[in-house]
Amino acid sequence: MTVGLIQLKEQKNKLNDNKDFAKRINKGKLWQALGRFKTVRRGYSILKNQLQQFNSQYYQERLNISRVSALLPVQINQCVDNVRKTGVHLGLHLKQDAVKQIRSFADSNLCTEPKHDDFFFASDIKKGRLNGKDRRVMRGLVSNIDKCSIISTIVSDEILIEIARKYLGYYPTLITRHLTWSFASDLDEVEVQKLYPPTNFHYDVAGLNFVTVSFFITDVDENTGPHIMIEKSHNRKPLKMLFRSNIQKEADVWNYYERSEQLTITGNAGFGFFQDPSCIHRLKLPKNSNRLILQIRYS
Ligand SMILES: [Fe+2]
Repeated sequence: MTVGLIQLKEQKNKLNDNKDFAKRINKGKLWQALGRFKTVRRGYSILKNQLQQFNSQYYQERLNISRVSALLPVQINQCVDNVRKTGVHLGLHLKQDAVKQIRSFADSNLCTEPKHDDFFFASDIKKGRLNGKDRRVMRGLVSNIDKCSIISTIVSDEILIEIARKYLGYYPTLITRHLTWSFASDLDEVEVQKLYPPTNFHYDVAGLNFVTVSFFITDVDENTGPHIMIEKSHNRKPLKMLFRSNIQKEADVWNYYERSEQLTITGNAGFGFFQDPSCIHRLKLPKNSNRLILQIRYS
């Protein structure tokens, strides 16, 4: 390619990057576009904290906090400090009985895949395909998880709510939960990244402030769907990453961050971590066996 052509391509990319931010605003998703800026998230925390001061008991009571914990003990302040400093706190653990109940729920409930209309059980997926047919399935969102009582107990866990409250600076007013299978695939990484967006480096923009806790429900090692993140990137992104799509090209990530800042999170079934998902992160699609993860977002 000639130098002139390369320059033209770069100019076009820059225009597209700027358009991306503008497009989101035009689509009426201003709040979503703004949640990517650290100062907006902090300002929102202060405002929300002030508003809740008038009736903090109301906000506490509506969370229906569970005093029965399915977790092993956690150092709450240590956890909050770690998420503030590095973007993540590792080493939470669900009790094994809770892991078994969640696994059994996931095995016996139908799943859906975003952008597809069909329903399937995780056991219907063989080598990344539905019932041996052509239809590839990358992930399965387990349905009806509001009906899983152990997940409801975990969502309202006193310790988790307290960590979220301290990190956000206010009682969370919106909590979402997802139980997701990522199916093992023999596709190469480039194909996977086209079909399954979370396998690309990205940061989440899910509101004006948010924090997530995740628990592996299957054993996760390097080949079975580790969660990969760039430490401290929740507090440090170049402007061009903030003003364009939240999905990042791998080359751009390594132009800005050091390889040594990458953290690969693995752990046995029950292992969990609190994370500020404004950090740059991605899923590495499993190769050997399916991964099941429970994710709860407090915002
Ligand atoms: Fe994400």
